[in-house]
Amino acid sequence: MTEHAPLRTAPDPAHGHAHGPGHGLEEELAHLLDLDAATSGRTWEEVIAWAVQHVQGGPLRIVDLGAGTGTGALTLARFFTTAEVVAVDRSAGMLDRVQGAARAQGLEGRVHALPADLGPDLGAARSAVSGADLVWSSSFLHEVADPGALLAELRAALRPGALLVVVELDGLPRFLPDDLGIGRPGLEDRCHRVLADAGWNAHPDWRPLLEQSGFEVHGPHTVSTAAAQDPAAIARYARAWIAHLRPALQGRLAAEDLAVLDRLLTPDAPEALPNRRDLELRTARTVWAARA
Ligand SMILES: C[S@@+](CC[C@H](N)C(=O)[O-])C[C@H]1O[C@@H](n2cnc3c(N)ncnc32)[C@H](O)[C@@H]1O
Repeated sequence: MTEHAPLRTAPDPAHGHAHGPGHGLEEELAHLLDLDAATSGRTWEEVIAWAVQHVQGGPLRIVDLGAGTGTGALTLARFFTTAEVVAVDRSAGMLDRVQGAARAQGLEGRVHALPADLGPDLGAARSAVSGADLVWSSSFLHEVADPGALLAELRAALRPGALLVVVELDGLPRFLPDDLGIGRPGLEDRCHRVLADAGWNAHPDWRPLLEQSGFEVHGPHTVSTAAAQDPAAIARYARAWIAHLRPALQGRLAAEDLAVLDRLLTPDAPEALPNRRDLELRTARTVWAARA
C-alpha cells in the first residue's frame, strides 16, 4: 500500500524466488525481523492473549499471512500447543528461515510452510486460509496493493466464527534519547517526520475496511513493548535499524543531522550505538480482531 513501508522487502522482492534480485534487501529485512523478535519481550504473548478472547474454541488450524521469519507462526505454535500452523509468504528464503527456526524449537511437526503470492492472486489467499480457525496478519496488510480485495476474499473463504487478527506497528521503533550529547536534540523525531512524509509505516485504522468486508471487529487495541531491555540486543537492533533508514534520509534531512547519524554508525566513534548506555527501545503494536 505504501511506497516505503518499514521493514519492507525490495520493490520486486524476488517474487517467489529465494535468491532473486531482492536477496540483499531480503537478508536485511530478515535480520531486522529477527532483531525485533529478540527484543520484543512478551509483546507477542500479550497480543495473542488479547486477540484470543475473540476466538471461539481452541484454534486447530492457524494460518500466518506474510509470515516473514516466523515470529508470529512460531509464537502461535508455542501458545496453542495442539494447533497446526501454516506460514505463508511469497519469499522462499523467508520460509526457509521459518522452517529452520521451527526445527530448532522442535516445532517442525506442526509448523508448515506454504509459498504463495497473496497480492495479485486472490485464489491463492482463498486456498491458503481454507479451513482456518485463526488467520494472523502482522505487518503484512499494508504491503498488499489492494487490501480491500484481499479482505473480502478472506471473509468469503473463512467459516463463520473464524478469527482474523491484524497487527501493525503503531509507529516506527524508537531507540535514541532526545539529547544524544552531539548535534541538536530531537534527532529521532526529525528522522521520523521525514520518513512519515515518505510514506513509511503508512497504514490506516483497518477497522472500517474490515467492517466493510463483513467482519465483526474488536479493537484497535495497543500493546506496548515493555522489552526485557538487553542492552547489547537493543544496540544491535538500533544499529541495524538506523543503517536501514539512513539511505532514505539522504537529501531529506539536514546535513548536520545526517552527520550525527553517521557518527552513531561509525563503529569506533565514542558516540557510536554499541558504545552508548542511553538506548531504550520504545515500540508498540496495534491489533484488530475480526470475526468472520
Ligand atoms: C514486514 S514483513 C512481516 C513479517 C512478519 N509477519 C512479522 O510481523 O514479523 C512482511 C512479509 O510479508 C511478505 N509479503 C509481502 N507481500 C506479500 C505477498 N503479496 N504475498 C505473500 N507474502 C508477502 C514479505 O515477503 C515479508 O516476509
